[in-house]
Amino acid sequence: MKHGTFILCFALLYCFQEGALSRGVNGQQTWPVPYRRFDHRPGTDPYCQALYPFCPTGDRDGRIPYMKNTDVIEVFRLQAPVWEFKYGDLLGKIHIMHDAIGFRSFDTGRNYTMEWYELFQLGNCTFPHLRPDVSAPFWCNQGAACFFEGIDDVHWMQNGTLEKIGKMTGAQFNEMAQWVQKDNDTGIFYETWTVRADPSPNSTVWFDSYDCSQFVHRTYRKLAEMGVSLTSSAQTNYTKIYLFSGEPSYLGNDSSIFGRSSMKELAASIRAFYSSFQPHQSPQELVLSLLHIFENVVLEKTFYLFYNFEYWHLPMKPPYVRITYEEIPLP
Ligand SMILES: *[C@@H]1O[C@H](CO)[C@@H](O)[C@H](O)[C@H]1NC(C)=O
Ligand SMILES: *[C@@H]1O[C@H](CO)[C@@H](O)[C@H](O)[C@H]1NC(C)=O
Ligand SMILES: *[C@@H]1O[C@H](CO)[C@@H](O)[C@H](O)[C@H]1NC(C)=O
Ligand SMILES: *[C@@H]1O[C@H](CO)[C@@H](O)[C@H](O)[C@H]1NC(C)=O
Ligand SMILES: *[C@@H]1O[C@H](CO)[C@@H](O)[C@H](O)[C@H]1NC(C)=O
Ligand SMILES: *[C@@H]1O[C@H](CO)[C@@H](O)[C@H](O)[C@H]1NC(C)=O
Ligand SMILES: *[C@@H]1O[C@H](CO)[C@@H](O)[C@H](O)[C@H]1NC(C)=O
Repeated sequence: MKHGTFILCFALLYCFQEGALSRGVNGQQTWPVPYRRFDHRPGTDPYCQALYPFCPTGDRDGRIPYMKNTDVIEVFRLQAPVWEFKYGDLLGKIHIMHDAIGFRSFDTGRNYTMEWYELFQLGNCTFPHLRPDVSAPFWCNQGAACFFEGIDDVHWMQNGTLEKIGKMTGAQFNEMAQWVQKDNDTGIFYETWTVRADPSPNSTVWFDSYDCSQFVHRTYRKLAEMGVSLTSSAQTNYTKIYLFSGEPSYLGNDSSIFGRSSMKELAASIRAFYSSFQPHQSPQELVLSLLHIFENVVLEKTFYLFYNFEYWHLPMKPPYVRITYEEIPLP
């Protein structure tokens, strides 16, 4: 009896520690699981090689130009289909959009684009590499902010959006720029999926995505907090990629799952799960892969989600996967 109690306490304590990062003080899991912030951005692993250079025309050190405090800076909402999806037969069937924010200085007439995206493209952020020499799946999943001079009007206007939604002072712009640098240094990984209990609007969100549109929403909220008012004459819709599941359970991280012989079976299941998906594939293949998850999870009702560099088990339920283009109003 005593022995059993001891084991139970030990087990509870152990579980508590394992999940401590995302649990509240009383051990209750908070949903959605908070996205982990880092104190700085680590370098990328040399294994991860970008096919397209990240932020080729941005400042090499990520500096954002300083505006005169009295300047007036216009703010633009920018949205366009991810370029690969503009052509081919997926256009119009699935809205996979990329979001960004534009700025224009009254004083100088110069304009700028600010966006947040994957260092190694969407496939690499959604699926890991299974390397024969490394037991844990290997992720090239960093994402970051890119600020560069110029707005490519044609790119955003064709099948997309370029709309002025507000204006602010140069001082407000400079404050926003500082916030962007900090956000960029502490939020380092891209997350494709939003995981919720079911499709109804008020259902519990287990995990939030962390992608280009979330960056745009965070920035809009920051601007609103600073007193900048933003308005759009059109519906502001965004791409969301959903998984639907019952309450997730915490599994562990690389060392606790892949570095322990007692976890061999779980480690093998996670590798097997990800072996059906290829990270380095064409965008068309990627969409098929996203939808193919459907078949995989319908059979097994299991999804292994990687979030905050930790694995979670999702007991999947209908409709399993959905790609939507839905309204998220300006703050
Ligand atoms: C992985 O989890 C273990 C056990 O909770 C913890 O001690 C370790 O610091 C974690 N490793 C990383 C890299 O977070
Ligand atoms: C994805 O990562 C792999 C491994 O580093 C790399 O070879 C490939 O170029 C990356 N894909 C893209 C589109 O950047
Ligand atoms: C964000 O971080 C990336 C990766 O280190 C860097 O290339 C980029 O310049 C940074 N962007 C800003 C706006 O600081
Ligand atoms: C815009 O969309 C239409 C159909 O909706 C298509 O015919 C046209 O090629 C697209 N233009 C560009 C530049 O993608
Ligand atoms: C941004 O600047 C470029 C170059 O001057 C110009 O062609 C473009 O029309 C401007 N776009 C906006 C939205 O101000
Ligand atoms: C969602 O919650 C809000 C606020 O609690 C409520 O006003 C709304 O009616 C709910 N919607 C649904 C579909 O349950
Ligand atoms: C935008 O979102 C609203 C509500 O989420 C939806 O009713 C509407 O059909 C969406 N617009 C497009 C073009 O998909």
